[in-house]
Amino acid sequence: MIEHGDRVKNQSRKQHSLYNLLKHSLAEIDVDKKSYILDGMIRVDNNTSKDIVVYVDFTLTQEAFVNILNNAIQAILNKGNTSNDTTENVLSITAETTDDRRYATVYFEDTGIGMSEEQKNHALRGFFDTKGHKGVGVLISRVLLTAQDGDLDYRSKEWVGTKAIVTLPLAHEGDKPKIVATFPQSPKGE
Ligand SMILES: Nc1ncnc2c1ncn2[C@@H]1O[C@H](COP(=O)(O)OP(=O)(O)OP(=O)(O)O)[C@@H](O)[C@H]1O
Ligand SMILES: [Mg+2]
Repeated sequence: MIEHGDRVKNQSRKQHSLYNLLKHSLAEIDVDKKSYILDGMIRVDNNTSKDIVVYVDFTLTQEAFVNILNNAIQAILNKGNTSNDTTENVLSITAETTDDRRYATVYFEDTGIGMSEEQKNHALRGFFDTKGHKGVGVLISRVLLTAQDGDLDYRSKEWVGTKAIVTLPLAHEGDKPKIVATFPQSPKGE
């Protein structure tokens, strides 16, 4: 957590494509979980528009996304597949922008085991203990996102699935672009 604190303090927010952030996050999920996607047992749909540009620290946001993605896939694996269950195992990622154009909302919707209201609240506070180990992924993700003017919340239904809802600030004109001018700047200020 101390290490996270330093990284939050030294964060560097720039304009980034949300689609690209998600693509890089999907590449970083746990190897054992990735194998279920490659085998086709779990389908992952990244339906986010390539036009959404957010103003965030790439690494901090990617870490939060990877945590959320790993949890979603784990929840699908924990549900297992009973013989009379014909529902597909899907993790669907969608995004929209708020009407006031200030935020992007990203939805990570899984068909996993789900959480009760109580489990959800415990997860958001950290140290939720299900399988003998204490998880802090949700708590850290929330801290990383709120530190960048974003947020993380969950809607969930036991045995049906979970929707992780991430809010991130949209980039605006005047925000630091991804590619900054190389220094030293010309004396004319060009
Ligand atoms: N998408 C989800 N569906 C169902 N349960 C979830 C989901 N995301 C989180 N949870 C629940 O919240 C708990 C806490 O998640 P968290 O990421 O904080 O810890 P963890 O995954 O158990 O361990 P780690 O610290 O390795 O991430 C999980 O153990 C799980 O029970
Ligand atoms: Mg986790």
